[in-house]
Amino acid sequence: MKVLDESGEDNPYLLGVYAPVQEEITADQLKVVGEIPKDLNGVYLRNGPNARFPMRGRYHWFDGDGMVHAIHFENGTARYRNRWVRTRAFEAESAAGRSLWTGVMENPKANPFGNVRGLNLKDSANTDIVFHQGRLLTTWYLCGSPYTMDPLSLETLGAQTFLDTLTGDVMAHPKVDERTGELFWFDYGPKPPFLRYGVVGPQGTVDHLVELDLPGARLPHDMAITDNYAVLMDLPLFQDLDAARQGRYKLTFDRSLPSRFGVIPKRGRADQIRWFEAKPCYIYHVVNAWEEGGEIVMDVCRVGRPAPSGGGSVLARMISYLKLDARMYRYRFDLTTGTTSEEYVDGDHNTEFPSIDLRMTGRKSRYAYNVSVKQAPTNLFDGLVKYDNLTGAKETYYYGEHRYGSEAPFAPRDGGAGEDDGYLVTFVTDDREDRSEVQILDAADITKGPVARVLLPQRVPLGFHATWVRSDQLP
Ligand SMILES: [Fe+2]
Repeated sequence: MKVLDESGEDNPYLLGVYAPVQEEITADQLKVVGEIPKDLNGVYLRNGPNARFPMRGRYHWFDGDGMVHAIHFENGTARYRNRWVRTRAFEAESAAGRSLWTGVMENPKANPFGNVRGLNLKDSANTDIVFHQGRLLTTWYLCGSPYTMDPLSLETLGAQTFLDTLTGDVMAHPKVDERTGELFWFDYGPKPPFLRYGVVGPQGTVDHLVELDLPGARLPHDMAITDNYAVLMDLPLFQDLDAARQGRYKLTFDRSLPSRFGVIPKRGRADQIRWFEAKPCYIYHVVNAWEEGGEIVMDVCRVGRPAPSGGGSVLARMISYLKLDARMYRYRFDLTTGTTSEEYVDGDHNTEFPSIDLRMTGRKSRYAYNVSVKQAPTNLFDGLVKYDNLTGAKETYYYGEHRYGSEAPFAPRDGGAGEDDGYLVTFVTDDREDRSEVQILDAADITKGPVARVLLPQRVPLGFHATWVRSDQLP
C-alpha cells in the first residue's frame, strides 16, 4: 500500500527516502561489512514519522505516526527491529482501518481528541525517544503523552503518567540527569498558563511543577539543565492568533521582540526565574549547558531566519518552513550582572540534531556530534560534524552522494570514560537503492568513515531523534 494524503500533490515528505514503510520486522541474520566492535553493547533507537494510513487532508512531515527503528548490539552481533508506537490515536485509527485525524495543516476541530493542553491534533509520539528510569519515553513535538516502550522488544507499554501525577503534557525534549534519575520537562498551550515547568523526581512522580508567565502563547521546543538550574525559552516565533481563531495553524516571527531565556533554580518558584535577553531567533535544539565562573554557558543550534519569506502554495510554504538552517552558537548568561553575550561557534556550517555523551548533560562537555544538513529543498543529513570545545577543532565525515544519515548519538565503549571513547551510530539510507544500513564510526576519529556497516532488511525512512541506551542501563 502506498501511503499518501488526500491533496493529490506530490508531497516530498511522503516519497522516496521519506516514504513510510508498512512492515514491522525483527531480524538478526544481518550482513555485516567489517566487524561490529565487541565493546559496543547497547541499543540505538530512532523515532520518526511513519504514516500508517493515507492522511485526511494535507500531510505535514510532523504528522506521521511515530515509529521506532532500533538496532541492538551485543558482543559483536546485531538485531534490528521496528515498531509503531501504539498511541491512543494509532489504536483508534487501526481499529477503524483508516485515518481519523487531520494534520497540523488542516483545521483540527473535527478530530476525535488532542493532547491535554493544546489543539485537537493527533499526538503521534513521533519526535524524540528518551531513556529514563529503565524505560523509553517517546515524545511529540507539540507536547503530548510520553508513551513508554520497552527498549528491547519495542512493545508500547502505554502512556506514562508518572504514577498519576502528570496533569498536562510533556514536550519533545525532556532532559534526564543520569546522576539523580530526575527528568526535567515543560509543557505549553494556547491558553494561560502559557508555560509550565516540571520535574519528575527519583521516585518517578512529578514532585515539582510551576506555572510561568509569558507575554503570550509560544512554541518552545527544547530546554537545558545545569548543576543547579533549568533554562527555558521564550522565542519570538509563535502561532498567528488570527489564523488560530479561524482554526488554521500559521507561524509568525516577530523580529521586533528579543529572544528570552529563563534561568530558574531546578526546584525554584515561579518568581525566582530570571530572564536574559538576546537577539531574536528560533532554537529547535540545545547541545548542552553548564555553569562556569558565575555564568551559564549554553550551546545551541540557532536558527537566525525561522520564517522564510516568499509565498507559493501551502505545500511549498510547509517545505520551506521545515527546512533546517541553523548554526552552532553559544550564549553566556551572567548570573551576577544579568547580561547575555552571544557568539557563533561555527557560523558557516548548517548543522543540527546535536548529540553529546549523555552522561555529561548539564556539565561542561568537550565534544558535540551534529548532523550536517545538505543544501537541498528538504531536510537531508549528508554527514556528521564533530565539534571540540577545547581546541575549537572540527571534524567532518560525509556519507557520499545519495546517502543520508540520522541523528547519531554517542555510544560509549564498554568501560570507556572519555566523551569520544566510543562510537557514533547512525542509519544511512541510499536513495538510489531504496535500502538502509547502520554505520558505526569511531568517535575519536570520524574522518576514517565507518568501522562497520550492518545491512538492513528494509529502508529506514528519514526521521527525527535518536538515542543510545548502554547495556548496563538495560533491564
Ligand atoms: Fe526536536
